[in-house]
Amino acid sequence: MFEVNENYLKLPGSYLFSTIGKKVSGYSRKNPDRKIIRLGIGDVTRPLVPAIIEAMHEAVDEMGKAKTFHGYAPDLGYGFLREEIAKKDYQARGCDISADEIFVSDGAKSDCGNIQEIFSGGCRIAVCDPVYPVYVDSNAMAGRCGDYDEARGLWSNVIYMPCTAENGFVPEIPDERPDLIYLCVPNNPTGTALTRQQLKVWVDYANDIGAVILYDAAYEAYIADEDVPHSIFEIEGARTCAIEFRSFSKNAGFTGVRLGFTVIPKDLKSGDVEVHGLWARRHGTKFNGAPYIVQRAAMAVYSDEGRAQLREQVAYYMNNARVIYEGLKAAGYQVYGGVNAPYIWMKVPGGMSSWEFFDWLLETANVVGTPGSGFGPSGEGYFRLTAFGTYESTVEAVGRLKKG
Ligand code: MLT
Repeated sequence: MFEVNENYLKLPGSYLFSTIGKKVSGYSRKNPDRKIIRLGIGDVTRPLVPAIIEAMHEAVDEMGKAKTFHGYAPDLGYGFLREEIAKKDYQARGCDISADEIFVSDGAKSDCGNIQEIFSGGCRIAVCDPVYPVYVDSNAMAGRCGDYDEARGLWSNVIYMPCTAENGFVPEIPDERPDLIYLCVPNNPTGTALTRQQLKVWVDYANDIGAVILYDAAYEAYIADEDVPHSIFEIEGARTCAIEFRSFSKNAGFTGVRLGFTVIPKDLKSGDVEVHGLWARRHGTKFNGAPYIVQRAAMAVYSDEGRAQLREQVAYYMNNARVIYEGLKAAGYQVYGGVNAPYIWMKVPGGMSSWEFFDWLLETANVVGTPGSGFGPSGEGYFRLTAFGTYESTVEAVGRLKKG
């Protein structure tokens, strides 16, 4: 009789956003007349900008002619896009990253989930708490997290680094020694960020103890403060201890198009083994390259026209963030984030738990958010709202929250 990977059986319920999705569709089936505003999952709502649409149309036309048709894409990404990323995202910011250190993929979620495969099963992970659930779940599937304590919401073999209002949402160096350290800056879910100086502490620490920082920079486009780095490779020493994940979902609205990339410097080594080679091997075996049309579309993200249009799109969402932040603050809520990230992290009022507040908000205001405890035990008592809605629905949601 076959046996399943029993690590899956240890996972709590369903994936956070699936649980929310089910709850909301159950509610709206029972109450079809209610207009629900969804500020839960961080999914974008603005259409793709004209420069991207134009690039896609051109690429579609190319695919329709024998002379310019493209079959399998190179598994690590087309040279034209890898060069553009290296130049515009990294070298222009003074980072020593070359095109062959960039791996184009179908999105940062897959890369964040898959990266753990190239590390030994014995590696111990450290995560911020609260945290984007993919990091822990993917390691739990690989058997690296020990057992799950349902009551406390904790895995026995994970090092948690609490990030709460008390420590300004800045993770502290843990007492126990991790091998893989997940950092997400700007942060999902708290919407806060680390300064250059704060990140340098982590880079020095990782180099000292021989750990790898798995740095998720999916929200980089939303950084407003000068002293928040756009890449970990802006920090001296990061080439020997960091891997960075980037996404086109949030900066260019590709949540439904799918594209991202991972940067692995060739100086990142375990003994004399280059991690870069392992990820290239994995990519070549399990991935057949992101679609030509999509990689061409991504080129428009870097054109002058595309950049200008996307700056406006980011500003649109950040205006929503301001509306939520200021509206809730004026109504007496304690709110955080929303300055360098499209997420607002609020303290749940009246001693309710995160899920109680979720239910209350859904039922009384018909607004959907994400319960903080879904991101980890230190998220209990908090709630996340996304700025990715439309302006109109954001204003309406804030009005309803104020009344509630
Ligand atoms: C979120 O809501 O946390 C994000 O949309 C999830 C993701 O980017 O995969």
